[in-house]
Amino acid sequence: MSTGDPDASAFERIDVTTAHPARRYNYWLGGKDHFAADRASGDAIEAVLPSIRLMAIENRMFLRRAVRYVARQGIRQYLDIGTGIPARGNTHEIAQSVDPTARTVYVDNDPIVLTHARALLTSAPQGANAYLDADLREPGTILEHPDLKATLDFSEPIALMLVAVLHFIRDDEDPRGIVDRLVGALPPGSYVVASHATWEFQSPEAIEQLSATNTDGRFVPRSAETLAALLHGLEFVEPGLVSVSRWRADDSPQPRPSIEDVSCNGVVARIP
Ligand SMILES: C[S@@+](CC[C@H](N)C(=O)[O-])C[C@H]1O[C@@H](n2cnc3c(N)ncnc32)[C@H](O)[C@@H]1O
Repeated sequence: MSTGDPDASAFERIDVTTAHPARRYNYWLGGKDHFAADRASGDAIEAVLPSIRLMAIENRMFLRRAVRYVARQGIRQYLDIGTGIPARGNTHEIAQSVDPTARTVYVDNDPIVLTHARALLTSAPQGANAYLDADLREPGTILEHPDLKATLDFSEPIALMLVAVLHFIRDDEDPRGIVDRLVGALPPGSYVVASHATWEFQSPEAIEQLSATNTDGRFVPRSAETLAALLHGLEFVEPGLVSVSRWRADDSPQPRPSIEDVSCNGVVARIP
């Protein structure tokens, strides 16, 4: 595991032959960091689910609204796992627009995100950022990392960001154990911000076609009920676990897209 600025090995580790979630998401968001395999995978999914780009945009808008919400509750520390390639309104930028002293630790396991660490590490002078090249499936490694401990104070509340990342953890990789381990490390008054793709609103035919695009089995959509179970024992902030397009979205462009088109649930939960 490495931290901070990328060295040549980050570029060498980039596999352009298979689609990667960070790059495919960047493609759907209209970014520039994607390869032919990512575009082919993204297009195959879009052919079945034409609203997939809207889903990505709405998820990103949810992230920004949720960070702004927790920042206004006085949260000054963020652990953002599954960061993605930098996009408009990164976690530390939103948090520091509310409180410039906010501190953020970013974590991702894709070397392409590591190559963007410099952008993710550009903090307001009063705050601080760190980047860990690490895997959500190894929460102990994340929690024990010296750069995490140097950046975040675990005696003060922290917002754990699990935005559009849990659906890349298969059931046999123990998503509940992973969430429990991370949540268990956070002090009372901390928050969890999570979003998760769902196929609950898709037809059986569409689900069958979408499953055919999931060639490596790495993508696991889950229902709202299953996501709620992963976050057991936490207090869901109003309006609870809902479509990301409906979460405190009164000030977002109206009318809001349908929950079927967005097919992604989101929640902000407080650790009692
Ligand atoms: C769809 S993007 C979401 C980015 C950002 N959180 C957002 O919502 O805008 C998912 C990110 O999770 C990362 N990811 C997937 N599995 C991961 C894992 N096991 N550990 C760390 N990061 C992971 C991917 O590399 C990708 O950058």
